[in-house]
Amino acid sequence: MNRVEPIVALRGLKRSFIQGGERIEVLRGVDLDIMPGEIVALLGPSGSGKSTMLQAVGLLEGGFEGSIRIAGVCAEELSADARTQLRREHLGFVYQFHHLLPDFDARENVVMPQMILGRPRAEADARAEALLAGLGLGARLTHRPSQLSGGEQQRVAVARALANRPALVLADEPTGNLDEATSDVVLAQFLALVRGEGSAALVATHNERLAAKMDRVVRLKDGVLHEQEGQMP
Ligand SMILES: Nc1ncnc2c1ncn2[C@@H]1O[C@H](COP(=O)(O)OP(=O)(O)OP(=O)(O)O)[C@@H](O)[C@H]1O
Ligand SMILES: [Mg+2]
Repeated sequence: MNRVEPIVALRGLKRSFIQGGERIEVLRGVDLDIMPGEIVALLGPSGSGKSTMLQAVGLLEGGFEGSIRIAGVCAEELSADARTQLRREHLGFVYQFHHLLPDFDARENVVMPQMILGRPRAEADARAEALLAGLGLGARLTHRPSQLSGGEQQRVAVARALANRPALVLADEPTGNLDEATSDVVLAQFLALVRGEGSAALVATHNERLAAKMDRVVRLKDGVLHEQEGQMP
């Protein structure tokens, strides 16, 4: 029998911080499976640990207990180099503030992660142009981030996150610094692109309305995840 493996599987994920001599348990045992192509909204009040959880899944930080499997590989058993490689091959990131490289134009920002994986420049350019054009930025390829609006910058960040066809996109309030109308448009484009590419996504957001447009909603509360009832599978 063919069993489909989750793209990410978290078991008993824990993280605490020492603050002012006191230990704060932020994640107290988070379990989560995300299947290939599934788009999951991560809701939770400010300070509940959404960013902390995304950093863990993104293999960006240590200090966690529990297990994180990405594409069937147990991340904590890997060397730092192997973990970086796993991240580059399978994961894409979109942050609240775009983190684009200021000295490079829109196309170059989307080309860069592809070059790091060894894709030939011409192919990387073609992929960047197709992604940017699909997001309505066909006429902005040679603009630097400072020459783009906030919404345009976030679109470039979305294109960059998808450049290497990641199996999983991690997004931390990807439209959190945009006005409501722009946020809706960019998030809708982001979701359409992720769906079109067949990637899975874990999207931290404060916006319940936008969360409802995703395949599944999970809520982080008191350090554990709660599945929202009454959802479409
Ligand atoms: N490096 C750190 N050192 C100490 N405490 C930290 C650190 N990072 C996060 N925390 C604490 O962990 C808790 C969760 O933070 P986190 O940023 O994950 O929340 P969040 O759910 O993303 O909130 P927001 O919606 O405001 O972005 C907070 O109480 C925060 O103060
Ligand atoms: Mg956060």
